[in-house]
Amino acid sequence: MKSHQQYSLEKNNSFAIIATTPIIYFPKDDQELKLLTRVTQGSFYILGEGSNTLFVEDITPVIIKPEFLGISVSETNEYYEVSAACSENWHDLVCFCINKGINGLENLALIPGSVGAAPVQNIGAYGVEIADFIESVTWFDFGKNKSQQLTNAQCQFEYRNSIFKQHLKNKGIITHVTLRFTKNWRAKLNYQGLNRLSESCSAVDIMNTVIGLRNSKLPDPKIIPNAGSFFKNPVVCADQFMLLKDRYPELPFYPQDNGSVKLAAGWLIEKAELKGYQLNGAAVHDKQALVLTNIGSAKGDNIKDLAIYVQKTVFELFEISLQPEVRMIAKHGEVILKEIN
Ligand code: EPU
Repeated sequence: MKSHQQYSLEKNNSFAIIATTPIIYFPKDDQELKLLTRVTQGSFYILGEGSNTLFVEDITPVIIKPEFLGISVSETNEYYEVSAACSENWHDLVCFCINKGINGLENLALIPGSVGAAPVQNIGAYGVEIADFIESVTWFDFGKNKSQQLTNAQCQFEYRNSIFKQHLKNKGIITHVTLRFTKNWRAKLNYQGLNRLSESCSAVDIMNTVIGLRNSKLPDPKIIPNAGSFFKNPVVCADQFMLLKDRYPELPFYPQDNGSVKLAAGWLIEKAELKGYQLNGAAVHDKQALVLTNIGSAKGDNIKDLAIYVQKTVFELFEISLQPEVRMIAKHGEVILKEIN
């Protein structure tokens, strides 16, 4: 199996943080994964395209970066099924499907990252989540040293969450994702910004509009290094929401099925007057306050310090403790930002 010692990860994380791993492994199939049993008993981190990862120290744990490739399509009278290997690029998969007339992923265009990372945090945008399409996930379990299929229900998808971030964290690797798309496709236009399109628009129209919206708000990581939304949108109980809504009638909100209410973290950060705020080479993006950027030569802990400052300032104003969706990785493993309360 391909591997390298003392490998620089600067080009493997979208924050462009300079960090080195003692060793990186590039398994390309199940046979090579089986050789990693010993490695996975120590501290390690599975890296996709590094678009949701912040290395907070100069040294990282051992890295496993899968190189599984391939996409296959099958169909019945009612649906298409697309199976993609974990190291395929997500946006390329979206384009592949739309070009073939397989509609459904258009709202999820241009999300950075790999196919295998997508179910881990249940990527979502413009009113759609990958969980809406997942038929099954192929999971290579390091303990059992073999792979198995997980159904959609077994993946326990929630907003930016899944079993892969909880019970199965660091216990294996997603090698393939199988998505199912009905042939009876309907445009999903309820998200602000898409509702000006007509019901008869095509998936290509939606994809192009989503690409335009994302390009207008979100910085291109190749130009301004970043990892998309740094924090998750917080969910609060109905009572706390009512108090906030009284104080801030313009507060954007998204009622949830269980009676709680999701708020827009970007709005809270902007209201706390942090849009454009800079600290030691790290910045709150001036067009979308939920995005933290590396505007110079920030180190990972500079970005982390800014995140802590944002979290503290937002808490002082709203008594809401923002939680990162970006994973912060130190030499000995993942670092979890403490909740303020
Ligand atoms: N808002 C502000 N100021 C800001 C940013 C946002 O007032 O600086 C307000 C907006 O005006 C809007 C609301 O907050 O009323 C929501 O903003 P937006 O539609 O931009 O979406 P978001 O909640 O900030 C989420 C996802 C994005 C996804 C967009 C579009 C999370 C953590 N983020 O952002 O996902 O692209 O919706 O669906 O759920 C990502 O995860 O990396 C990501 C970019």
